[in-house]
Amino acid sequence: MQNGRFLPAGRNEAVSQDQLQQAFRFYQAGQLEPAVELLRGYLARFPFDAPANHLLGGICYRLGKLDSARDHLVRACAAPGARAEMFNDLGAALNGLGDQTGAIAAYERALAMEPNHAVVLSNLAVVYRAQGQPQRAIAALRRALAINPNLTEAQANLRNTYRDIVSPWHFPMINDRPRNDAYHAAITHIVPGRRVLDVGTGTGLLAMMAAKAGAASVAACEADPVIADHAREIVALNGLSDRIRVIAKHSTALAVGSDLPQRANVLITETFSSDLLSEGILASLEHAHRELLTEDAVVIPRRATALAYLAGGANIEALLFAGNSHGFDLAPFNDFAPSLLPVTLDNVPHDTLSGDFELFSFDLRSKNFPVSESMISVPVTRSGVASVLVQWIRLELDEAAHYENRPLPNPQAENHWTQILHRLPQPVRVEAGGTVRLIARHNRQQISISIADYVT
Ligand SMILES: C[S@@+](CC[C@H](N)C(=O)[O-])C[C@H]1O[C@@H](n2cnc3c(N)ncnc32)[C@H](O)[C@@H]1O
Repeated sequence: MQNGRFLPAGRNEAVSQDQLQQAFRFYQAGQLEPAVELLRGYLARFPFDAPANHLLGGICYRLGKLDSARDHLVRACAAPGARAEMFNDLGAALNGLGDQTGAIAAYERALAMEPNHAVVLSNLAVVYRAQGQPQRAIAALRRALAINPNLTEAQANLRNTYRDIVSPWHFPMINDRPRNDAYHAAITHIVPGRRVLDVGTGTGLLAMMAAKAGAASVAACEADPVIADHAREIVALNGLSDRIRVIAKHSTALAVGSDLPQRANVLITETFSSDLLSEGILASLEHAHRELLTEDAVVIPRRATALAYLAGGANIEALLFAGNSHGFDLAPFNDFAPSLLPVTLDNVPHDTLSGDFELFSFDLRSKNFPVSESMISVPVTRSGVASVLVQWIRLELDEAAHYENRPLPNPQAENHWTQILHRLPQPVRVEAGGTVRLIARHNRQQISISIADYVT
């Protein structure tokens, strides 16, 4: 609610004027109760007075009486000479009451009166954001900040709206040295002279590596238009606008002829989630092979694999199992335990009870990736209590450059990808020499595991 500018527009009755001005002084001094009393008396005589309704509406809003706030502000806005502030405050009251459509209409009325009212633009953006319309929120906030760069509420709203769109993992990802080095090695080796398509360009980092490595052309697509805008800005900042075309589209919406002049013969992508599949890599690749790439196109990475080992130990059980705490049995809470947990196990002591084995391995030059299920026999190499499968990923960027985030006791560098713990239904005692038989499935988006049996 915007303070100020509540003074009446001029009235002959001196007593009434005094009453209203006194109410305003009370309001400014934070004495809301006497202000309300005076305003009620005043409005009993002048029920449609715009400034008095505006002031009382504002006070009701501050007191959390949103229905009364709305009623008074509606009256203020209906009066001849209603001002943008009144519509702005009505917007806030309606938004507080959950009437987002009404709030937007009120803010739009305010903007029709004062198009450069930065506070109104910022308030309007809050409603757009709550409605799940971040692009509109961002446009309104950018306008607000162009008008008033120091408007702190718009600055905060813009940061919050960006955060809805751009996950914080982008930052450790773009600073993940082993990842970047592995991509860079393969890109410099493979792309010179070729037509590159970078799927999921983010900051544009891999596309810029490709351009610098001497690609004949680089098209970089990014599904999120706000991120794509920033990629374009970054590409320009690095002097590569004439070499890289950033396209704000999901790769499956691209077409040769309109978006790409011809099929690309190298596809670069880093659209791997920690669990490998949930960013939709398999469907994107199938589409790219069918619609966007030459028959002999090279894919970087050429292979992606999910690996695992059987593990247990108190540190892991504490993350996923409810048991005995302080002498109380909390076991029924296990009903709520997640079957998958992303977690970084580097430096976390735990028991490794088997060798490493592959869950699924994908040749990314394949044209189809059907759902799949397989039985895997895992020899137990150490006796202990198994409570999880620890899963991680390996990318073969080309025949020489590899990346893997197997958990290490003392890693040389930080990986941004986490490991994934697949929780076993309950901890199982296993003996060295025994075999755990697992069923591993993937539905193209997720890998899931179940235990078939344990054979001693
Ligand atoms: C994991 S980030 C990687 C960014 C960048 N390639 C890098 O390596 O630093 C993936 C980005 O790709 C976008 N994305 C994921 N799948 C996509 C697809 N099939 N087409 C276009 N963008 C995609 C996401 O919005 C996200 O910004």
